[in-house]
Amino acid sequence: MTTIFTEMEQTARAMLARGKGILAADESTGTIEKRFKGAGIPNTEENRRDYREMLFTTPSMANYTSGVILYEETLFQKARNGTPLAEVLSRQGVVPGIKVDKGTISQPFCPGEVITVGLDGLDERLAKYKAAGARFAKWRAVITIGNGIPTHANIAANAQALARYAALCQAAGIVPIVEPEVLMDADNTIDTCFAVTENTLRCVFAELATHRVSLEHMVLKPNMVVSGKKCAVQAGIDEVATKTLLCLKRTVPSAVPGIAFLSGGQSDEDATAHLGAMNAKGPLPWVLTFSYGRALQAPAIKAWAGKEANWKLGQSHYLHRAKLNGAAQTGTYSSAMEKQFATV
Ligand code: 13P
Repeated sequence: MTTIFTEMEQTARAMLARGKGILAADESTGTIEKRFKGAGIPNTEENRRDYREMLFTTPSMANYTSGVILYEETLFQKARNGTPLAEVLSRQGVVPGIKVDKGTISQPFCPGEVITVGLDGLDERLAKYKAAGARFAKWRAVITIGNGIPTHANIAANAQALARYAALCQAAGIVPIVEPEVLMDADNTIDTCFAVTENTLRCVFAELATHRVSLEHMVLKPNMVVSGKKCAVQAGIDEVATKTLLCLKRTVPSAVPGIAFLSGGQSDEDATAHLGAMNAKGPLPWVLTFSYGRALQAPAIKAWAGKEANWKLGQSHYLHRAKLNGAAQTGTYSSAMEKQFATV
């Protein structure tokens, strides 16, 4: 008999397969607008569908892509040949996942801070998403660094929502990606990022325990410990790798099978180099991989630019970054590999 736990075990194993990582292609309609704008692409439903079909039909994408996080719209869209986009993925052995949070709202009495919403009716939505092929889910909480923030109220509210979401997912046999993102947009030092990330992860794992979430059947998606973008002193690759690992070792139980980082606004090459440096410092208690949005897609969006004639070029750029991040997942990445661009 396949229980929901054996099912989730298989899903988690597939998500964390060696040499692969997760493509976060779950930008909301508002967020993809920002990404498209940079490349002059009109944000129409057709363009969003075409773009995602281009990515998901990249030849041999499955060699480096274990799963794809979809936005709800995409989960119910079909490729040109009529195949649902989720099935385009699963037929290649790539696991379809789904972003299930409904974005953020301002937290009352906590200026500058947001909480993630979407728990109401989530059990029903999960059943619908599972029937459409989704095997894992994502919920993103946002923690902001600034003057006097984050507050405990904000971290606690976000951590509790993450845990309640994760419990609902597991009850439905869906592997939750638990994503507490400490933003890297401010002028803080790397040590402030370390302290806030450590505090956040401690709180998240305490809530996960309270809500009886099975650590063996989840994936953590954290930020790396980095200098704020506006900080005058930017930590180098090795410092980021060392401090991120120290922070995670202090806070993430080894029962968690895998950690899949977000890129959070890092350059494509930095995101890859950081992951590579961490894996080169192994052995580690968990699989360490990527779940990048921008750092995997930025060159592909630019190359495609919404034009049919650029389809293969867009795919080549996606494959290039996926391949390099796949190497970073095994600790075999070197910056010299950046030049090995090949067309599909
Ligand atoms: P970025 O890698 O662009 O941060 O996106 C990952 C993600 O899924 C954020 O929720």
